[in-house]
Amino acid sequence: MELPFFKKTDVIGLDIGSNSVKVIQLAPAKKSWRLVNIGIGHLPSEAIVDGYIIDSMTVISVVKELIASQGIKVKNCVSALTGHSVIIKKVNLPVMSEAELAESIQWEAEQYIPFPITDVNIDFQILGTDTEGRGQMEVMLVAVKKDVINDYTNVIKESGLVPVIIDVDSFALENMFEMNYSVAPNENIAIVNIGATITSINILRGGITIFTRAIPVGGNQLTEEIQKVLGISFKDAETLKFGGSVSGIDAEGVPQVVERVSGNVALEVKRSIDFFLGGAPGMFISKIYLSGGCTKTKALQAIIQERTTIPVEMVNPFTNIECSSKKFTMDYIKDVAPCFGVGVGLAMRRAGDK
Ligand SMILES: Nc1ncnc2c1ncn2[C@@H]1O[C@H](COP(=O)(O)OP(=O)(O)OP(=O)(O)O)[C@@H](O)[C@H]1O
Ligand SMILES: [Mg+2]
Repeated sequence: MELPFFKKTDVIGLDIGSNSVKVIQLAPAKKSWRLVNIGIGHLPSEAIVDGYIIDSMTVISVVKELIASQGIKVKNCVSALTGHSVIIKKVNLPVMSEAELAESIQWEAEQYIPFPITDVNIDFQILGTDTEGRGQMEVMLVAVKKDVINDYTNVIKESGLVPVIIDVDSFALENMFEMNYSVAPNENIAIVNIGATITSINILRGGITIFTRAIPVGGNQLTEEIQKVLGISFKDAETLKFGGSVSGIDAEGVPQVVERVSGNVALEVKRSIDFFLGGAPGMFISKIYLSGGCTKTKALQAIIQERTTIPVEMVNPFTNIECSSKKFTMDYIKDVAPCFGVGVGLAMRRAGDK
């Protein structure tokens, strides 16, 4: 049966993070997109660890509740994997056509993947042609562990949704960025998405991903350090981190803790950027665009700029999206925008896209 209320191609973007699940629905609009639905459901800290779903029942109930609370009727769902369950590598391969590479990719990829090739799904994108006449071309190789894809697709199905695309968070960020910002063909920028447990670093040249890296740092480290220093619960530490107060707890030392741990996170970001620059002589990065809930910590924004000496700006994934609706206020959109970098990129995909 076909429901008359929405097109078959309509999708929701579902970003399943370790701290929260983000859902967003966009509809094509005159200039680009219009925001139809948006919501966040919080997860307990042990439900997803290191990009692996540990407690699927909890994740399913949070997703179901979120979809119901938003009154979302669309079933087609685009989601993404993140962190160490995804391997993205730029490799040089002998020049061949896309069809030829599709035939031989399993064999070509084997040496670059640290897991048995039968355990992963492989995708690729040919980045450039043989400009130097060496018979080689650059290929972006993407490998995802099959068991992790299965875990995510099962959670999506059990939540009553239809998984139409499982993307990778870095590519979702690239799509989100392309829709909202324009860059010169030779300009390099970095998108740094700092969540609760994972930081994804994505370097784009002329809007195309040329380097990605996931590092296991994020907002939980700030919370855990506040928790340890003050001897309080995770929940109370989280409240203090957000700038709130908890009765009976002296929060005087919190800013110093936040600053110290932010320094560590910034150092990890700098290391990854330096690693990229070390392998790309003569290149420089003109700006770092920050996204992810953790970047709402003002001290962190400033420290990243100071440590990397690269100008820092908060990404606004809603720059080119019409957001006027009775369902949400502009203040709400502004508040949650840092958490929706990946979600917007997912919601822009359409069922049937490659
Ligand atoms: N106002 C705020 N001030 C400081 N930190 C915040 C604020 N709002 C959210 N955070 C932090 O942002 C993090 C969650 O961000 P996000 O939603 O991007 O993570 P996630 O996608 O669930 O996690 P991950 O991608 O790492 O699995 C948490 O550590 C949370 O404490
Ligand atoms: Mg995330």
